[in-house]
Amino acid sequence: MDFTITTPLYYVNDKPHLGSTYTTIACDAIARFHRLEGDNVIFITGVDEHGQKIERSAKKSNKSPQEYCDSITQSYLNLWDRWSITYDSFIRTTSTHHCSLVYEFYQRVSESGDIYLGKQQGWYCVGCEEYKDEGPNEISPSCPIHKTNLEWRNEENLFFRLSKYQKQIEEIVSRPGFIRPQSRRKEINNFVSQGLKDFSISRVNLEWGLPVPGYTGHTFYVWFDALLGYLSALNRNTLPVDLNQLKDKGWPTNVHVIGKDILRFHSVYWPAMLLSAGLDLPNSIFGHGFLTREGQKMGKTIGNILDPLELLNDYGADPIRWYLLKDIEFGVDGDFQQNRFKDLINNDLANTIGNLVNRTTTMSRKWFNNAVPTFTMNSEDTSQLCTDCLATIKCVREAMYDYDLKKSSTAILELAVKSNAFLSASEPWTRIKDIMNKELVAYELYSVLESIRIIGFLLLPLLPDLGMKILNQLGITSIPITWKNNLKWGLLAKGSLLPSPNPIFNKIL
Ligand code: MSP
Repeated sequence: MDFTITTPLYYVNDKPHLGSTYTTIACDAIARFHRLEGDNVIFITGVDEHGQKIERSAKKSNKSPQEYCDSITQSYLNLWDRWSITYDSFIRTTSTHHCSLVYEFYQRVSESGDIYLGKQQGWYCVGCEEYKDEGPNEISPSCPIHKTNLEWRNEENLFFRLSKYQKQIEEIVSRPGFIRPQSRRKEINNFVSQGLKDFSISRVNLEWGLPVPGYTGHTFYVWFDALLGYLSALNRNTLPVDLNQLKDKGWPTNVHVIGKDILRFHSVYWPAMLLSAGLDLPNSIFGHGFLTREGQKMGKTIGNILDPLELLNDYGADPIRWYLLKDIEFGVDGDFQQNRFKDLINNDLANTIGNLVNRTTTMSRKWFNNAVPTFTMNSEDTSQLCTDCLATIKCVREAMYDYDLKKSSTAILELAVKSNAFLSASEPWTRIKDIMNKELVAYELYSVLESIRIIGFLLLPLLPDLGMKILNQLGITSIPITWKNNLKWGLLAKGSLLPSPNPIFNKIL
């Protein structure tokens, strides 16, 4: 089955921060999961390179917009490389194949009679690249997200007839599962029920954008241009995507993962644009919460950012991934706190999972010739750990299909907690003193090793490095393409050699 997932296309006004990295890591975990499930995954990410915000940032740093874009885009590419993000397609909205797609799409929308020239007046936030709802008589209003002054605009723009799609959009946004999580639907329903207004899709006095054919002085509004990047990205090469052949390329996307601030664009404007062009709609839009620091949205404009490269150098990828995916409910805001981060990582990864792997492999090697214990008892299916493992596999898979990353990580950790409790209760270190118990100890240690194997596999989408290190400690060195045949009980080969224990995770100091 095809599974297409997208991150937003990030503005290149500044280098990436942890907020944008968060979305990408979450999408990476979901993409990795679907690959392991055997799906043909198309994981799309990229950058949004046009618009006023970028033009101004380039000017500030005395670079041409294109030079500026090239350098920031490169920092995104480097970052995703360092974080081992497994995207399949990276789209730049300045690439020529994207530009030709914008023109082709615009042609379709014009032919549907959905474009007209009109007057646009209002307060504009350059940070959001969006007109805000404040009335004309407001005195110096500011953007609640960026905390910067709004700018008054009064210009001639081309408009898109969003109002024509009122009925269809009402139906689309109320489809169960279209807007996720469910809690975000209400906000959009309210917005739509107030009556959709046509929106402007061109700008004047802005050079850094694609010129609109037939309208000298107009460039395409950055959002009109950027949303189309999702379609351009469907070709993994530099050829323009044929809009008549989108189905063969993995369209419609299963999910656009975005932050809650850009939900309107994705769940209202974008579907209407696609309807106008006669194209299929995305299956769902998932709006996650903001990553905050001291309660305030982390952002490039506000400047309270955490640098993902520094964090990576200080702690490595897995601890940060674990914190973001396990501690923050996907869909809700989460605050990044250094102390909490350290406690969580040391508890979960070092004390619970790390110790479980270390002590179990050490005991097995010591008492069973450096190998996975062998035994003749035929009672695998009666092990409580077997039942726990099978229940965890089911829970993790269901949660991942539901994009519930917290639930799936928590379930894996619980399995490690149960495995530790099983060891504490069975006390193999006491039992082994009596040779008569060797068979039972072998069976029990095997059960725990088997549970560790399943923990290692289940962690692969969330913590790819740690998952692999765990499997290595069991002598499993090759990563399977799909995991279906591995998520069963009793597959660890009895008597197979266990490598010398290597701490899989060191505590953070
Ligand atoms: N360029 C547009 C998206 C176009 S998609 C066709 C854009 N770019 S952005 O760089 O400003 O934001 C990209 C995403 O990062 C948004 O989904 C936004 O919500 C997210 N985040 C920005 N700051 C964030 C946090 N502090 N926390 C979590 N996500 C954040 O909007």
